[in-house]
Amino acid sequence: MAVLNICTYPDPVLKQKALPIEKIDDALQDLIRNMVDTMYQAPGIGLAANQVGRPLRLIVFDVTPKDQPRNPRVLINPEIVCAEGSQSLEEGCLSVPEFYSEVKRCSKVTVRGLDTQGNPVELEGEGLLAVVLQHEIDHLDGILMLDRISPLKRALYKKRRQKQLKSKDETG
Ligand code: NI
Repeated sequence: MAVLNICTYPDPVLKQKALPIEKIDDALQDLIRNMVDTMYQAPGIGLAANQVGRPLRLIVFDVTPKDQPRNPRVLINPEIVCAEGSQSLEEGCLSVPEFYSEVKRCSKVTVRGLDTQGNPVELEGEGLLAVVLQHEIDHLDGILMLDRISPLKRALYKKRRQKQLKSKDETG
């Protein structure tokens, strides 16, 4: 098991558009396992590869309630093929420390991608699952939840984050 370092705002890798995965090899399986471990360790309910510094189109997620057995899901080259309705749920992001905000998103999405063996899969999600799928696929396009909130909220967070980073510098 390896827990990877999670890149945080304003790391430029988070702004990068991730590249499609063309080869599913052992190195990719290692990355997938490590991302799953990293997600549980954080703890979080979703993680995109660019959050661990690898701009590849790969996401892992698990929205299973805490009192139920873990069910890690993996999607390679995920794509939203259908989206409808709207909902606003409170979101957080492992790359945006100490920040939570409601984000307006579609309430139901259909996503196509590949599983860890390269087989095509189609997944339909509503509620929290729909949020996680949209949030993680946004990451692959270099979009953070910060880009989906009001300019005022974003400005306030940026200010707070700069202060945080500065005080971290000062204390070593
Ligand atoms: Ni995130």
